[in-house]
Amino acid sequence: MEKIRIIQADKYVGKKVKIGAWIANKRSSGKIAFLNLRDGSAFFQGVVVKSEVSEEVFQTAKNLNQETSVWITGTVQEDTRSKFGYEIHVEDIDIIGESHDYPITPKEHGTEFLMDNRHLWLRSSKQHAIMQVRNEIIRATYEYFNKEGFVKIDPPILTGSAAENTTELFHTEYFDRDAFLSQSGQLYLEAAAMALGKVFSFGPTFRAEKSKTRRHLIEFWMMEPEMAFMKQDESLEIQEEYVAYLIQNVLDNCDAALDTLNRDKELLKQYTQLPYPRISYDDAVELLQKNDFDVKWGDDFGSPEETFIAQQYDKPVFILNYPKAIKPFYMKPHPDRDDVVLCADMIAPEGYGEIIGGSEREEDYDALREQILAFDLDIKEYEWYLELRKYGSVPHSGFGLGLERAVTWISGTEHIRESIPFPRLLNRIYP
Ligand code: 4AD
Ligand code: MG
Repeated sequence: MEKIRIIQADKYVGKKVKIGAWIANKRSSGKIAFLNLRDGSAFFQGVVVKSEVSEEVFQTAKNLNQETSVWITGTVQEDTRSKFGYEIHVEDIDIIGESHDYPITPKEHGTEFLMDNRHLWLRSSKQHAIMQVRNEIIRATYEYFNKEGFVKIDPPILTGSAAENTTELFHTEYFDRDAFLSQSGQLYLEAAAMALGKVFSFGPTFRAEKSKTRRHLIEFWMMEPEMAFMKQDESLEIQEEYVAYLIQNVLDNCDAALDTLNRDKELLKQYTQLPYPRISYDDAVELLQKNDFDVKWGDDFGSPEETFIAQQYDKPVFILNYPKAIKPFYMKPHPDRDDVVLCADMIAPEGYGEIIGGSEREEDYDALREQILAFDLDIKEYEWYLELRKYGSVPHSGFGLGLERAVTWISGTEHIRESIPFPRLLNRIYP
């Protein structure tokens, strides 16, 4: 008899197998018990018929508590009534670990309660589905960038300077000096791009942002490609191709998860159609003003503004060329006007907000030096970064995709806290 995982059931129809599982749920009558079994790979039904098993096994089945772990022995059968398509006719049950008073019952629970029990909440079918979408996005990311000839580079997490904005830094001690947790690997990736041409990173980043919104995490994972000899408009083409690739792979490989999440697959299909629309920051301000938003040129957009702009389109939209004053020091100014930079944010549809931020980088030594000073940054900390512009500087561009923003959007989840196993939020670092 083989030990299998639930996900392999289709290959064992009619065969007797052994499965290690937890009891996700159970209902029973005098003659039959239905066990909702989960083993991490999938959920399916175990059927225990009183007349087919010993009295002892039937009583065991009837008394099983939620989340008790068991060895189930039985025969796999087709089950046309379930979406999964298979079930197991149970012959024997061996209890491995008892479970009593499991806190997350099938009834509704409040968010704070679920967050306090995140270590257990992860077991529920919705969370299971979201983690599968997350895993597929990670898998497809590596596949896409490897296929395109990028080299994975791991920038440091402990850094001596700010990559994005000095107000959002997590401070720590580094022996006798200060250090900060990385907000972005970009500056190091620029160095690596000058060594390897096309590179990408995928790792945790940290922002001490006092934002408590459904889009903000304190610790999140970012995927950052950086490309030498690449202008901003070429980078936009890679961004849209990459995002469409992610969505197509989730559609192809996470069908059951999308069903569990009730995600509209037709909408997702629509998002795989390229190109994505582009609107300039200038035009976006005008559009917002015409629609009674209280914004003036030079303001950054908040989530109501982003959502309104996104609603004008049926796919993600790029907002191009923001004012220089509201973007980081490293961005290259537009060649025809000095007040905007060569950058773009990709805004997801359905109110999910910015999922990518990217730009062309300033490649001129003097111009970059001036910018570092203008932003009041400590020039000593950026000497190495400036040197990249001294030895064969080339046009280069890159971008960063927030993994959890992408997971939240593609899985159709309301809040970003469910897109990462253990979210770090403004007022939460437990569990
Ligand atoms: O727009 P950001 O700040 O860009 C950078 O960090 C650049 N250095 C990237 C680059 O060009 N290499 O962040 C990039 C993305 C955002 O578009 C968003 O998806 C995500 O990171 N992000 C967050 N996700 C969750 N919680 C937060 N607090 C986030 N801040 C940014
Ligand atoms: Mg941004």
